[in-house]
Amino acid sequence: MRTQVGIIGAGPAGLLLGHLLAERGVDAVVVESRSRAYVEGRLRAGVLEHGTVDLLVAAGLGDRLLREGLRHDGIHLQWPGERAHLDFPALTGRSVWVYGQTEVVKDLIAARLAAGGQLLFEVTDTTVTDADGERPALRCTDADGRPQVFECDAIVGADGFHGISRGEIPRQLQRTWQRTYPFAWLGILADVAPSTDELIYAWHPRGFAMHSMRSPEVSRLYLQVDVQDRIEEWSDDRIWSELQTRLCLDGWELRTGALTEKGITPMRSFVSSPMRHGRLFLAGDAAHIVPPTGAKGLNLAVADVALLAPALAALLAGDASLADSYSDRALRRVWRTTHFSWWMTSMLHTAGGPGPVDPFDAELQLSQLRYVTSSTAAATTLAENYVGLPIDY
Ligand code: FAD
Ligand code: PHB
Repeated sequence: MRTQVGIIGAGPAGLLLGHLLAERGVDAVVVESRSRAYVEGRLRAGVLEHGTVDLLVAAGLGDRLLREGLRHDGIHLQWPGERAHLDFPALTGRSVWVYGQTEVVKDLIAARLAAGGQLLFEVTDTTVTDADGERPALRCTDADGRPQVFECDAIVGADGFHGISRGEIPRQLQRTWQRTYPFAWLGILADVAPSTDELIYAWHPRGFAMHSMRSPEVSRLYLQVDVQDRIEEWSDDRIWSELQTRLCLDGWELRTGALTEKGITPMRSFVSSPMRHGRLFLAGDAAHIVPPTGAKGLNLAVADVALLAPALAALLAGDASLADSYSDRALRRVWRTTHFSWWMTSMLHTAGGPGPVDPFDAELQLSQLRYVTSSTAAATTLAENYVGLPIDY
């Protein structure tokens, strides 16, 4: 079969790219190893930058987002005895939206299928051939066990950190950078109205805690835990008690409710360069991972494909200039986001492992928190990164 672009992975990056290419009259196939129910139910990110929302709305994907999403005009930063608010519209003229990745993915899949887009779930044995030649092809076995071959003009690896695409770039041409952190996030979803109007990011000597949400009825909360911890060690009671301790503030109460999900996610920073090899392009987590503290992973995947869609459309029309500059332009933003996510993580987490916090580190973190919540210049730096820099930053 011939198709112009073969896309590996039906996460936010692959699905949105399929949509943005169709808008430009470019046909694409998206192949995904998991089932539709699995990718729609995979609980991950929750905050959309204003630029992500603008892009989804402009692409005709904003109906439910604007109806059910929650516009947030700031965040709370907390440390023992203090809770300070950053006012994003006052600092940047922008806001963010709370709308779960599960909902973004459901909207994207529905839109792709409604438009008659080719979307194959539960494929196996995905391979790429001749990525840097003239006849690249995407091969896989479909859910019915039939081999499929798509001859393409370009192939996009949007298959996440554990996908196969990044490995198609020869090792001697690839450079990677990595930082692992000595802590992880334990995340819960609970059937209880959020106890806060906007997200709370809390520094505490026992470790970071965060209060987020998914809707007026559903709360999402996180705790910094040791990277070795197993979820079985954390009973529901222990989780609520630790959240109470780390988030507590005089005159404020944390409402509790039934947990519907809980899990532990390790944290890492990772960047792989280049994001293009011949006719293979990487987008999203396939090329980079950030720790979740800055709420950036999903937004960065969206920013990649916002650059890639016009670049591929131009390439297929005979103009290679945007495709040639894609990797450098994307990586410029990736490194800004990598820095911001690392910086937020460093400001808010204790060093990890058993034992008391390092008193010197603690004073530096508290000083930084007081600074970003009292200096307009420092607050603006945080806010403009959090709401999202321009697409071609
Ligand atoms: P993905 O969403 O990973 O999509 C890649 C897709 O490719 C997957 O559906 C996968 O099944 C498919 N695939 C893989 N290999 C193959 C193959 N060989 N053939 C076909 N398909 C394949 N970000 C935040 O901002 N906040 C959070 O709280 C947060 N929590 C997270 C929790 C977890 C457990 C993880 C893993 C990530 C989290 N992130 C979070 C990051 C954010 O979810 C990602 O940055 C975002 O999903 C990136 O989208 P993507 O489309 O690039 O990759
Ligand atoms: C979430 O709601 O899942 C969420 C929000 C903000 C973050 C990370 C995760 O920084």
